[in-house]
Amino acid sequence: MPSTCHTVSNRGKSMHWLLATALCAGSLIGPATAQSLSDSQGGEQIWQSKYFPKHKRMALPAKRGPPPEDWDGKIPLVITNRCDDTIWPGITTQSGTGPGTGGFELVAGNSTRLWVAPDWQGRIWGRTNCTVDGDSCSCQTGDCLKKLDCDASGEVPATLAEFTMEGGLHRGQTFYDISLVDGYNLPMGINYIPAKNTSFIPPNLTNAACIATPGWLYKPNKTGTYYSNSTFPIPLEDSESNESIKRWCPWPYLVFPPTKPGDGVYPYPDDDIQRPTFSPCKSACAATGRDSDCCVGKWHDPKKCKPGRYSNSIKAICPDAYSFAFDDQKSTFIIPKGGGWEVVMCPKGRSTNILHQLFQEMDELNTNGNLSETSLKRLRDVQYITSDRDAASGVRPMLSRLGIVALTLGMWFAM
Ligand SMILES: *[C@@H]1O[C@H](CO)[C@@H](O)[C@H](O)[C@H]1NC(C)=O
Ligand SMILES: *[C@@H]1O[C@H](CO)[C@@H](O)[C@H](O)[C@H]1NC(C)=O
Ligand SMILES: *[C@@H]1O[C@H](CO)[C@@H](O)[C@H](O)[C@H]1NC(C)=O
Ligand SMILES: *[C@@H]1O[C@H](CO)[C@@H](O)[C@H](O)[C@H]1NC(C)=O
Ligand SMILES: *[C@@H]1O[C@H](CO)[C@@H](O)[C@H](O)[C@H]1NC(C)=O
Ligand SMILES: *[C@@H]1O[C@H](CO)[C@@H](O)[C@H](O)[C@H]1NC(C)=O
Ligand SMILES: *[C@@H]1O[C@H](CO)[C@@H](O)[C@H](O)[C@H]1NC(C)=O
Ligand SMILES: *[C@@H]1O[C@H](CO)[C@@H](O)[C@H](O)[C@H]1NC(C)=O
Repeated sequence: MPSTCHTVSNRGKSMHWLLATALCAGSLIGPATAQSLSDSQGGEQIWQSKYFPKHKRMALPAKRGPPPEDWDGKIPLVITNRCDDTIWPGITTQSGTGPGTGGFELVAGNSTRLWVAPDWQGRIWGRTNCTVDGDSCSCQTGDCLKKLDCDASGEVPATLAEFTMEGGLHRGQTFYDISLVDGYNLPMGINYIPAKNTSFIPPNLTNAACIATPGWLYKPNKTGTYYSNSTFPIPLEDSESNESIKRWCPWPYLVFPPTKPGDGVYPYPDDDIQRPTFSPCKSACAATGRDSDCCVGKWHDPKKCKPGRYSNSIKAICPDAYSFAFDDQKSTFIIPKGGGWEVVMCPKGRSTNILHQLFQEMDELNTNGNLSETSLKRLRDVQYITSDRDAASGVRPMLSRLGIVALTLGMWFAM
């Protein structure tokens, strides 16, 4: 959704989008398009336009319900705060049974373990600098109509962790992503908690992180063990520095632009002005609401709607995150379902670059439901993990299969 859909200020407009997309997506998805998906040429774009827009914009009414009762038939969802400040996580449920809470206070360094049903679909974000008074909670970012226990999605901008626990072919897969489609407020990581029957999935294929806040970034390294262990090194974004990520947000999209000296009249570029460490950034869509930035209306076409300045700058820092409505397929993680998740606010380390570097292994995992010995061996080979994937041709041979999986998911969403 460019989830501007759910900002308070854009409400009317988003209802309109929502309806429009729900209608058009329903009619777009059908067996006729499955055929064209197997043409590897068009596969990518069809996959994007059928799956993502719908996935992004469908905001079904939030459901609450009691949380499920044990690991048998439930999925752990842990939320951890590694920020220096208290964070107020917000949780919305788009479908299925959620954790029984829409948000709460989480002090720095603490973790909360929740449980969701295996059919849960929803998202989690962090609210910052809130003033709490009983049930009311008024926040600098991520605010949900001033309630501590959110029923509505958070106000933009907010880094989102999005999950569809049970999607894809035979509903056998979990889809998840870190979405910056609505903007960015905090660094975020997603760590896998394997179930007994999914312990074969190596953590270096699953544990994604996006860090675009200066001071939270460790030294560049092509691979690392921050969200994994020494057996399973994770490919990392390896060129940014604390300095370089200070100014990634285009000035007009800053939520709290620093005061300009001299009454706003001064000779040097905005970009030279010191910004606060936590400097929330709206996405182009969230900032302008324009059809061309949100890929709606006549821009609802991946051939026309291209990444702008916001997407390009954040994608360079967070290659595994979803940066705009028609971001490529290397933004969504798909793995066999069953395991649980930890969402970490403010992990320290480096952003991951898993989907680009290990696309082949991810595809094998979600196509076959398993990894061969050969792939597992490859995944332990640091040199393989860090080698330049752009240089190797034919790294995306299985796109069309991925496309079909996504299409099936799309049909599932349409039901
Ligand atoms: C941290 O979390 C634990 C377990 O959830 C809880 O008992 C404790 O009160 C929390 N600490 C603070 C300071 O809130
Ligand atoms: C909360 O506000 C303080 C004071 O403005 C600021 O220093 C801090 O970075 C903010 N925290 C977050 C997480 O935005
Ligand atoms: C970024 O800043 C933090 C905190 O000052 C520091 O620990 C870290 O090493 C710095 N990272 C780089 C890449 O210099
Ligand atoms: C950085 O990379 C080198 C090899 O490229 C590796 O030996 C080292 O452990 C890595 N550092 C971290 C923190 O993972
Ligand atoms: C790393 O994690 C994997 C999977 O969770 C585990 O099997 C392995 O023993 C771990 N290795 C180390 C060195 O802890
Ligand atoms: C693991 O077990 C759960 C619960 O029985 C099941 O739903 C899931 O499909 C299984 N996952 C795999 C990869 O076998
Ligand atoms: C996955 O493949 C490995 C061999 O690579 C095999 O030992 C294992 O039994 C397979 N697991 C499943 C669930 O098929
Ligand atoms: C992931 O871990 C596996 C198993 O240790 C290893 O073979 C592989 O090289 C790792 N992949 C990456 C990208 O680090």
